[in-house]
Amino acid sequence: MKQFDVLIVGAGAAGLMCAAVAGGRGRKVLLIDHAKAPGEKIRISGGGRCNFTNVDAGPKNYISRNPHFFKSALSRFTPSDFLSLVERYGIAWHEKTLGQLFCDGSARQIIDMLLEECRAGGVEMRLETAVQDIAKRDGGFAVRTSGGMVAATSVVIATGGKSIPKMGATGFAYEVAAQFGIDLVEQRAGLVPFTLDPDTLAAIAPLAGIGVPAEIRCGKVRFREALLFTHRGLSGPAVLQISSYWRPGEEIAVRLLPDVDLAEKLLEGKRGNPRQSPATLLAVFLPKKLAQFFTEKSGLTGAVGDLPDKALRSLAASIQDWRVKPSGTEGYRTAEVTLGGIDTAALSSKTMEARDVAGLYFIGECVDVTGWLGGYNFQWAWASAHAAGQAV
Ligand code: FDA
Repeated sequence: MKQFDVLIVGAGAAGLMCAAVAGGRGRKVLLIDHAKAPGEKIRISGGGRCNFTNVDAGPKNYISRNPHFFKSALSRFTPSDFLSLVERYGIAWHEKTLGQLFCDGSARQIIDMLLEECRAGGVEMRLETAVQDIAKRDGGFAVRTSGGMVAATSVVIATGGKSIPKMGATGFAYEVAAQFGIDLVEQRAGLVPFTLDPDTLAAIAPLAGIGVPAEIRCGKVRFREALLFTHRGLSGPAVLQISSYWRPGEEIAVRLLPDVDLAEKLLEGKRGNPRQSPATLLAVFLPKKLAQFFTEKSGLTGAVGDLPDKALRSLAASIQDWRVKPSGTEGYRTAEVTLGGIDTAALSSKTMEARDVAGLYFIGECVDVTGWLGGYNFQWAWASAHAAGQAV
């Protein structure tokens, strides 16, 4: 049985980073993954350009049952720390919007950078290797893999969440937690498009492909970004963001054109050209099909000059306080992240080690820490991996 200091399961964002940090400290590291290639989610992230961090990442951008747990790791490995690494490798980058940093070129550069860091740290990597059993024994673990038995002093679980099973996502981390009596916070799909009931879907079908600025609110949380109508329902950054806070059965309040006082604009338009139809007037502010959709929904016809101001105000309200009850989400099939996971109460916030199982660590998305859309999830992967990589 080959002996390692550290066995890391999962060569995604967190696993690669943890292996690089631990290897860099001179630890003998084995990194295994059941997939054919490492870092597959990095490769497809950010439309192929990887939104690798967010310069504004802070506690407010994360969701967890314990809103303090992630502060320590995030403050000890910051967006600037990751950016320094990116710059050391000469990878060109740009800030797209809202503090989101992307590669100018391909996301592949981030994978290559992490692989090079692993190589420099002498990390051994085995792909297409599955873990069949993890047994605790004196001074470490004995792990049966499809490639043979391995002994390790520390085991780091970095197998991510359930999102996108087609790409090899599994609930492996949760199974390991269950085996060692570690509590889980219920998991659900996050950063995911909403689906709609058949009637609403049929009504918005002609709008598929239209994007519009919006503010979407669910309870006390609100996001102001774009909303996109799709063939299946609602998507776009504002929808993905709010989906992480939405619970089945809840209604969301959508304010289209949040920067415009639409009621005032419609009344001005009525005074300026009383003979135009409500749809024509509305089309000054919204894409034509969307303008038609809302005027038909409101039942307003004829010339705007013949309509009472009250009718135009309620037309504006139907657009700026549009209440939608999603029938569900697209689920793990398209979700960018998995909410919930390993209960942080079971982990050290300094090292990510399980409090009751010495030598067992959980990092990245499998932990009950989920970021907003915009580079925050990778920053959590890097920071939690760095914390564990320093400790193993
Ligand atoms: P990750 O999923 O990266 O890695 C887990 C690894 O474990 C995988 O390599 C998998 O094959 C392996 N594995 C799973 N089960 C296993 C098992 N049983 N045995 C062995 N290996 C196993 N975030 C962000 O900040 N900016 C962005 O631009 C994007 N973009 C984006 C696009 C899309 C389409 C998705 C789906 C997600 C994003 N994200 C993102 C989210 C981001 O990808 C995610 O939060 C991180 O990849 C999580 O890193 P982990 O290392 O925890 O899991």
